[in-house]
Amino acid sequence: MPIPNSWIWRSSLSTLLRALALSRVVIAGHYPLPIVNTDVAILGGGASGTYAAVRLREDYGKNVILIEMEAVLGGHVNTYTDPETGEAFNYGVQSYIDYKGAKAFFERFGIPLQPNVLFSSDTVNVNLNTGNLVPNVTAAPPLNSSIAALQKYYDVIVPWNDIMLPGYWNFPPGDQIPADLLLPFSDFVTKYNLEDMAPILAVVSGQEINTPNPTLFVVKNFGSPVVEGFLNNTFFDPIPFNNSLLYGDAKRLLGDDVVLTSTVVEANRSDHGISLVVEDLRTGTRTLVAAKRLLVASQPSIDNLAVLALDEQEKAVFRTWSYGTVYTAVLKTNLIPDNTSVSFVTPANSTSAQKPYSFSITWNGAPGYFWIIFGAEENLSESEAKEAIIAEMKTLYDGGAFQPIGSSTPSSDVVAISNHSSVGWGQSVEQLKAGFVQDLYALQGHKDTWYTGGLWCPDYSSNVWAFTDTVLPKLLEGID
Ligand SMILES: Cc1cc2nc3c(=O)[nH]c(=O)nc-3n(C[C@H](O)[C@H](O)[C@H](O)COP(=O)(O)OP(=O)(O)OC[C@H]3O[C@@H](n4cnc5c(N)ncnc54)[C@H](O)[C@@H]3O)c2cc1C
Ligand SMILES: *[C@@H]1O[C@H](CO)[C@@H](O)[C@H](O)[C@H]1NC(C)=O
Ligand SMILES: *[C@@H]1O[C@H](CO)[C@@H](O)[C@H](O)[C@H]1NC(C)=O
Ligand SMILES: *[C@@H]1O[C@H](CO)[C@@H](O)[C@H](O)[C@H]1NC(C)=O
Ligand SMILES: *[C@@H]1O[C@H](CO)[C@@H](O)[C@H](O)[C@H]1NC(C)=O
Ligand SMILES: *[C@@H]1O[C@H](CO)[C@@H](O)[C@H](O)[C@H]1NC(C)=O
Ligand SMILES: *[C@@H]1O[C@H](CO)[C@@H](O)[C@H](O)[C@H]1NC(C)=O
Ligand SMILES: *[C@@H]1O[C@H](CO)[C@@H](O)[C@H](O)[C@H]1NC(C)=O
Ligand SMILES: *[C@@H]1O[C@H](CO)[C@@H](O)[C@H](O)[C@H]1NC(C)=O
Ligand SMILES: *[C@@H]1O[C@H](CO)[C@@H](O)[C@H](O)[C@H]1NC(C)=O
Repeated sequence: MPIPNSWIWRSSLSTLLRALALSRVVIAGHYPLPIVNTDVAILGGGASGTYAAVRLREDYGKNVILIEMEAVLGGHVNTYTDPETGEAFNYGVQSYIDYKGAKAFFERFGIPLQPNVLFSSDTVNVNLNTGNLVPNVTAAPPLNSSIAALQKYYDVIVPWNDIMLPGYWNFPPGDQIPADLLLPFSDFVTKYNLEDMAPILAVVSGQEINTPNPTLFVVKNFGSPVVEGFLNNTFFDPIPFNNSLLYGDAKRLLGDDVVLTSTVVEANRSDHGISLVVEDLRTGTRTLVAAKRLLVASQPSIDNLAVLALDEQEKAVFRTWSYGTVYTAVLKTNLIPDNTSVSFVTPANSTSAQKPYSFSITWNGAPGYFWIIFGAEENLSESEAKEAIIAEMKTLYDGGAFQPIGSSTPSSDVVAISNHSSVGWGQSVEQLKAGFVQDLYALQGHKDTWYTGGLWCPDYSSNVWAFTDTVLPKLLEGID
């Protein structure tokens, strides 16, 4: 598939300035490192970091350096190329909410847009333990009832927009949090009679209707912009349907201001600026970066940020995240017909032990290929996840649910897999009441370090971009 030459070329003034500033200095006790001076160093080139780099350089005229450990920008975006057809197959981020500046971000690169690409498929329930087909345990509510319940949900959550969107700058202190936000979501559902929205919540947001998590956690990622997108059918995708396009274009625009396969290996932070040693993970080459501000746009887990020499105030906040394993993968198999998706379930009366993982198989428009989302509470490695998927395909075959198509031999292969494991909001109601949100936001600007990304606001692309827009002016205050 040809890639439209749609990116905007601009000669990179900041690259030139940085080249001129390149000099050698001797740091006490170290061998000389090349030094780069910049206004803002950005750690993590996923959705929020890439957006911040583009806006800071192009719209605010600042120098930036964007440090990304992977070989491409984009974070949770994954695109596999079907070797037979050359078509793009997105197996991470799927589609976008029409919220604030999201469409404008695509338009900046001249990327045309289309209504979100949907593939309808029949869902077949299969017992995860036996591979047997499971008849519908409970009949799904009719669509009109689901939509009616969703509209009711929308009316209840809209008043919270001011305290939740696009981030929690105005979130009330612990003792003033609306009581409904702290209810277990399952109780909230009962209170407002929202049971019938279950299928939409599951498909659009991947969340369970009977989750005991505080309502806050559910509304966070299934908030009013997402519900509006569903009700008004305004989700969108780029043309062609390759979600990596945006990030490929951003990389070309930012040029040498992006350093890929690189991370920070040492840092000093104070209220008078930041110095970082950045290492290229392939070559081992090190560079000293002196920045006026640091913007952390990578996940703020204690492990990931240890290199920043976190102080006690920072650790106390970042210690409270939960952790979950998530992989997405592309499965090539002759066992499942196209237009069919498989949902693995463990029937309530099952006598077998629960599997330590769960996953779903979704047909995504490419003949013979399927999209997998794999989740586990434990830290399973990539190869363990692959083995579990292949073992489950064997169970599926042995259970007789499916026969090989066009062959007498079953074949299943995981042709691509990507790690999306991450920390998340797992705080208790007590921690929320004790002011967790305020403690989190008190870190903004602490030691000239600012934060953006999915842990700081509702976690979907359009929203992390909108939230980044609220961080940048604050970060830039006092920068000359
Ligand atoms: C499977 C999946 C599907 C999704 N689908 C959608 C969707 O369809 N639509 C939607 O709007 N949202 C979707 N989301 C949510 C969306 O992807 C997130 O909201 C968004 O990516 C969050 O942006 P971020 O910048 O916080 O993190 P990320 O995009 O994850 O970016 C973080 C970046 O930091 C880098 N990094 C981490 N640590 C370091 C380090 N130490 N040094 C250097 N770099 C580092 C990572 O490699 C990564 O590139 C999906 C998420 C997942 C997991
Ligand atoms: C999708 O876009 C990315 C970034 O421009 C590009 O590298 C990749 O080749 C594209 N994939 C397909 C199948 O077109
Ligand atoms: C899949 O379903 C679509 C309609 O949703 C239909 O147009 C298409 O022909 C089907 N493809 C196959 C392989 O059954
Ligand atoms: C199972 O539920 C789906 C969705 O509600 C429905 O389309 C299908 O007909 C049901 N199948 C059976 C066997 O009841
Ligand atoms: C959904 O449609 C059915 C059949 O048309 C109707 O009986 C039912 O009252 C509708 N439900 C709602 C919530 O509108
Ligand atoms: C859907 O769109 C209409 C017209 O643009 C608007 O008035 C309405 O508020 C939207 N509904 C939701 C739930 O966003
Ligand atoms: C951090 O400060 C220490 C002590 O002054 C110094 O040895 C080290 O080189 C500094 N590191 C960076 C990245 O600036
Ligand atoms: C579980 O329930 C289903 C349907 O209700 C039944 O067919 C099956 O035999 C039961 N399994 C066990 C282990 O009791
Ligand atoms: C997957 O990524 C997460 C987040 O970066 C990381 O903590 C975890 O160690 C990775 N898992 C594996 C098995 O490498
Ligand atoms: C997960 O396991 C991998 C090895 O499989 C390890 O490298 C990584 O540090 C672990 N991550 C966490 C968060 O425990």
